[in-house]
Amino acid sequence: MSKTLQAIRGMNDILPEQTPLWRYFEGTVAGLLDGYGYRQIRMPIVEFTDLFKRSIGEVTDIVEKEMYTFEDRNGDSLTLRPEGTAACVRAVLEHGLSGGGQVQKLWYMGPMFRHERPQKGRYRQFHQIGLEVFNLDGPDIDAELIVLTWRLWKLLGIRDAVTLELNSLGTSEARGRYREALVEFLTAHLDQIDEDSQRRLKTNPLRVLDTKHPETQAVLVNAPKLADYLDDESRVHFEGLKARLDAAGIPYVINPKLVRGLDYYSKTVFEWVTDKLGAQGTVCAGGRYDGLVEQMGGKPTPGVGFAMGIERLILLLETLEQVPESISRQVDVYLCAFGEQAELAGLTLAERLRDEVPGLRLMVNAGAGSFKSQFKKADKSGALHALILGDDELAQQVLGFKPLRGQGEQQNIAWSALADHLATCVVQG
Ligand code: HAM
Repeated sequence: MSKTLQAIRGMNDILPEQTPLWRYFEGTVAGLLDGYGYRQIRMPIVEFTDLFKRSIGEVTDIVEKEMYTFEDRNGDSLTLRPEGTAACVRAVLEHGLSGGGQVQKLWYMGPMFRHERPQKGRYRQFHQIGLEVFNLDGPDIDAELIVLTWRLWKLLGIRDAVTLELNSLGTSEARGRYREALVEFLTAHLDQIDEDSQRRLKTNPLRVLDTKHPETQAVLVNAPKLADYLDDESRVHFEGLKARLDAAGIPYVINPKLVRGLDYYSKTVFEWVTDKLGAQGTVCAGGRYDGLVEQMGGKPTPGVGFAMGIERLILLLETLEQVPESISRQVDVYLCAFGEQAELAGLTLAERLRDEVPGLRLMVNAGAGSFKSQFKKADKSGALHALILGDDELAQQVLGFKPLRGQGEQQNIAWSALADHLATCVVQG
């Protein structure tokens, strides 16, 4: 018995109806990043497993239970990338891009893989656009990352629906001192905290701070606060970031519980969250990782970056009805040709029009067919106009030009005048 063909759970096809919105989104972000001087980098989707263990952290949810890891034919352990920062750091180191203190402002886009429980806004293959900046250690660049996302939210028409949450995790020394204090406090309240938090207390105690468990949350009210353990350097950095956001008029909320799920962060961490998507409300998140490059074998190199989840932002655009109408039309004109001679002439005419009218989206009928069936296809294509070429038109060297949407009569246009006509009424219209 044959099994029904189906995609893997949590891994979705992006169908032709959806791709215009994806391309609009990706194009908008790419244009914005060009405007800030960021350059695109493309890394492989598969890396050695060790890369992710060493960078994201052995005792994170991602490494412990979410990675797609397999052995290849050489016996190497490989993993489908669960995120982009690790591979970007690897590429920067491998190609010497950060040597001599060179500043790099990079961005990447593509699929990421995590074996999470699929639900709305959470998938096993999902897509990110990420940015990473190397060799800049001041709060000015942290601010730039936030300023440019703020501009993006405006371009997309979703600014009112997102909130910026900020925190500082301090240097690793400060965090170490805080970790000790937190462990001491939570150990004294062990019987009052949930099982998962008890486990995290041993492996990754800071993650207890973002527990969803109400009883543990109640215990945490009296726990030591990370802010009280911040070193001066981190405090000054954080103040510098806040001052810049204030100057730029970007509202934010300080969230002392924001610790992030990856281990490489230090100092600034931030998340853009929305309450319009239910449980999976974080649309963009990141922070500073000043120790990561050194930890991966490079020279001390400050780094900062973020990644946004494309699926979540697309869901948000749809939920807020911020999908521009213009993106749904993919064909401007549809050429119908009737008869063998007309079909041949139509082919060359269409190619000529493509040369002469840059940007024209012209679909030529394929598979012949009657008047009725070709007009049906023309209409279904979404085109604004049909071009009609039959024996009469061929003899007169004209094309019938028929509006498919709204008002207007069919008229004949000479082949020689066609390019000008289409340029004015279709491409600009
Ligand atoms: P992250 O918080 O793990 O950070 O992911 C960033 C964003 O990717 C999330 O805010 C969310 O929008 C999206 N995302 C994550 N998991 C899923 C999922 N299963 N389904 C759909 N969307 C998802 C990172 O990945 C870091 N590398 C960000 C970064 C870059 N930090 C510094 N540089």
